[in-house]
Amino acid sequence: MMGKVITIYNQKGGVGKTTLVVNLAHGLVRLGKSVTLVDLANPPYCHKWFGIPADGSALRWMKGEDVPRYGTRLGLYVLPGYWPDASDLFDGKELHLEAEDIRRERFETLQTEMVVVDGYRYEAIVEKELLRCSDLVLVPHTPGDAFGEQPKCF
Ligand SMILES: Nc1ncnc2c1ncn2[C@@H]1O[C@H](COP(=O)(O)OP(=O)(O)OP(=O)(O)O)[C@@H](O)[C@H]1O
Ligand SMILES: [Mg+2]
Repeated sequence: MMGKVITIYNQKGGVGKTTLVVNLAHGLVRLGKSVTLVDLANPPYCHKWFGIPADGSALRWMKGEDVPRYGTRLGLYVLPGYWPDASDLFDGKELHLEAEDIRRERFETLQTEMVVVDGYRYEAIVEKELLRCSDLVLVPHTPGDAFGEQPKCF
């Protein structure tokens, strides 16, 4: 099964990408979809919403490794990013993946109906290819007033 891929993207920081990613992903789960959230943001932040470690699963999966996913209480699958410095996972090299390969060799392996990607500024992955292989790219652009403390949803 090849799921629909929704990438949330803007090079600008602090515009609400991660907030949208987490809420959209859980909203889709509540509609009955099977959903994987992939945190390709640098620095990553999605893991903080779920109280899971930033162990770099999303980047290892992008490299082609077979990694386990975290499951939230509501049934969302999460591949967290890596903190503090993801470049050591790539030896400073770029991942040369074409859009078609990302789609076929990566997203297809997730086996969920929907994939939601926090896709902000990850230098080692060719952003253009990630955007090309997405079914939908959402670009939040208006910074809201900070909510203060981030809510947690385990
Ligand atoms: N719709 C919204 N209305 C008001 N405030 C919001 C909204 N969405 C997010 N925020 C707040 O804006 C701040 C930045 O949100 P968020 O971390 O989601 O942005 P981001 O684009 O992912 O940032 P970064 O580029 O650093 O990853 C947070 O304090 C968040 O609570
Ligand atoms: Mg973010």
